[in-house]
Amino acid sequence: MRRKILVTGGAGYIGSHTVVALHNTGYEAVIVDNFANSSKSVLDGLEGIIGRRPKLYELDCTDRKAMREVFQKEKGLQGVIHFAAFKAVGESVNEPLKYYQNNLGSLLVLLELMEEEGVKNLVFSSSCTVYGQPEKLPVTEETPTQPATSPYGRTKQMCEDILSDLRKSKSPVRSLALRYFNPIGAHESGLIGELPNGVPNNLIPFVTQTAAGIREQITVFGDNYNTPDGTCIRDYIHVMDLADAHIKAFEYLDKVSEESFYDTVNVGTGKGNSVLEVIQAFEKVSGEKLNYKIGDRRSGDIEKVWANVDKANQVLNWQAKHDIEKSLDDAWRWQQQLSKK
Ligand code: NAD
Ligand code: WQD
Repeated sequence: MRRKILVTGGAGYIGSHTVVALHNTGYEAVIVDNFANSSKSVLDGLEGIIGRRPKLYELDCTDRKAMREVFQKEKGLQGVIHFAAFKAVGESVNEPLKYYQNNLGSLLVLLELMEEEGVKNLVFSSSCTVYGQPEKLPVTEETPTQPATSPYGRTKQMCEDILSDLRKSKSPVRSLALRYFNPIGAHESGLIGELPNGVPNNLIPFVTQTAAGIREQITVFGDNYNTPDGTCIRDYIHVMDLADAHIKAFEYLDKVSEESFYDTVNVGTGKGNSVLEVIQAFEKVSGEKLNYKIGDRRSGDIEKVWANVDKANQVLNWQAKHDIEKSLDDAWRWQQQLSKK
């Protein structure tokens, strides 16, 4: 019998790849998703990879009654991986209540039900956004967080605070907040990947859509930063590596001896790449010349950030296996499959 894990937001970008990783390590993922930011076609992709349709509850995780029914129906849940949230930084500035309602509301409902139903292990999706622009690089988990610059970022900080308070209250729920750096790439089958809504905000989907001819040109947001080539630096992590970190996080929590537990772990590669380096690597792996121009800085952008991943290595026994070229190659394969449809 496979051990069952509830995966909220399991039809989304990172969630769907984690469903594959769970399957590959012998777990059964039970998905809860309301498709607020995903498509049912993801289920076909998942079926193509794991050979069967994953179990799915189509509902809103802020709906306590519906979620209670899931917990009661799915007896023997071993833990929860909680991806469901809204994530568009700009939208969160214009519609803050939507973000507080969904991102905080879904976590609160889950925590209440986990306590009620005796489900102990929770892996939570946090973000390197909690660090803002750190003074010292690379950032460790001890690096002080900075005041969030958007309601989205604030929801991640508030969720971390809620989990920390829960530990202090001696709640039986044990949680790990994984602070993701920049997830990119796709499953190498090309059957699942990132499905941005409308014009992408993030670099990689904009790059691949430009190469595919969907966008005419990509603008590099600023080349006068204090970095070697003047463009911003990020830690880009392959989404399948990130997915594996969730399995390690769950397995770690499962062995924790303390009754009540909470900690944070960075999940990145430990290496930073500039925007121009990403473009060059993309051109190399795809063989495509990218039409780009240098433009103004994007307001709110962090100049440079990358992770110290010692804690993930030592505590979770996890490290990223894929480099930026592999990530871009997989992202490009996914884009080409999408363009064929
Ligand atoms: P995504 O939008 O692709 O996936 C989120 C999924 O959750 C979607 O399928 C959406 O339909 C679902 N969802 C949202 N609210 C829901 C609700 N109330 N009930 C049920 N389902 C709901 O996003 P993603 O990139 O896979 O991100 C997953 C998590 O990781 C999020 O919490 C996000 O904030 C966090 N994160 C993402 C990034 C990134 O760059 N992608 C970086 C750091 C952290
Ligand atoms: C990466 C780099 C841009 C697009 C965002 C969220 C953050 C986190 C991850 C969730 C930057 C540059 C981009 C373009 C460009 N999400 N760029 N031209 O800004 O690190 O973080 O996603 O928690 O909260 O803010 O990622 O992919 O948008 O940008 O030059 O058309 O690419 O300036 O340097 P970012 P990104």
